[in-house]
Amino acid sequence: MITKEQVLDALRNVEEPDLKKDLVTLNMIEDIKIEGSRIEFTVVLTTPACPLKELIANACRNAIAHFISADAEVQINMTSRVTHQKNQLADNIKNIIVVASGKGGVGKSTVAANLSIGLAKKGAKVGLIDADIYGPSMPIMFGLEDAKPAAIQTADGKTRIEPVEKYGVKLLSIGFFTDPEQPIPWRGPMASNAIRQLFNDADWGDLDYLVVDLPPGTGDIHITLTQNYPVAGAVIVTTPQNVALSDAKKGIGMFLMETINVPLLGVVENMSYFTPAELPDNKYYIFGKGGGQTLAEKFKAPFLGEIPLVKSISDAGDKGEPVILNEGNPMSAAFIEVAERVAQQVSIQNAKGRQVGVS
Ligand SMILES: Nc1ncnc2c1ncn2[C@@H]1O[C@H](COP(=O)(O)OP(=O)(O)OP(=O)(O)O)[C@@H](O)[C@H]1O
Ligand SMILES: [Mg+2]
Repeated sequence: MITKEQVLDALRNVEEPDLKKDLVTLNMIEDIKIEGSRIEFTVVLTTPACPLKELIANACRNAIAHFISADAEVQINMTSRVTHQKNQLADNIKNIIVVASGKGGVGKSTVAANLSIGLAKKGAKVGLIDADIYGPSMPIMFGLEDAKPAAIQTADGKTRIEPVEKYGVKLLSIGFFTDPEQPIPWRGPMASNAIRQLFNDADWGDLDYLVVDLPPGTGDIHITLTQNYPVAGAVIVTTPQNVALSDAKKGIGMFLMETINVPLLGVVENMSYFTPAELPDNKYYIFGKGGGQTLAEKFKAPFLGEIPLVKSISDAGDKGEPVILNEGNPMSAAFIEVAERVAQQVSIQNAKGRQVGVS
């Protein structure tokens, strides 16, 4: 007779590789059912985008085989409850992820769009705020140039803005509320108010991740955001050029300032190398090699991946169908990997010292 205690004891030998504790201590094992030599249980991951799913499942199987019986028939169900810090934004938004760079034009918006869709494809509930008041990109990248989100007056006289949903992502862009032909000369307080409205007056519902695409540099928007909202972490986008890397350092410096103190989730190197469509195996490191990785190492931050310079990425953005949607394209897989690594880092930050909720 196999008992639940035996199963738990076996699984105490399986360590979650990122969180460095065993699955039982982490309360990740649920619903153990035993019928004769058939063992079934559920592993509750900290994100549906967990890149270690297979590895963890295999480790569980090995532990059962080794500590209980090699003949046991094992059925593992994988589910997830995305973790968050205790001081999350309201009850409904678990993790705010900002996408930032020092220099402009390095691919923040491209990364933010593909990251959001990637997390949603993995089964997470995702929102995206395009906070670039100077040059909002998401209406074009999502093919929503004409979208006008509904603003509903609630009974208590408040305005609720309804995010526009596309590709599984709930989106709000400052561009939905401005005329692209008439640039607004934003002053600091106006910009801050606009951002606050996108956060506070929108009907986001329950979100696992709210991704925020920031304008380049370190301005009013960055300060408003990081000082008023509990940001889970920042994804830094850079290209391998020295100018971009040097500006990225300043961007990172801002997040690490004591008064701001936003964890670095890692560095994405974009436009790492050029690959012509007709010669997909040829890589030309036209902007230099390894800069993003070196930057990540300098700040002891994870390196989240390199994305080559390929026409299909910019074409996809211009068409309003981010490349991650095109599953036959190798760039789709590259962005899925970035999304998984970002989710992984959020889970790691949530597990680090600070109090974690799993509601
Ligand atoms: N890996 C890539 N390969 C090819 N084109 C790319 C790649 N990444 C981004 N682009 C293109 O480069 C341009 C700038 O990218 P994007 O708008 O994402 O940068 P950004 O950092 O958000 O810029 P800004 O600072 O203006 O907000 C876009 O036209 C985009 O389609
Ligand atoms: Mg942008």
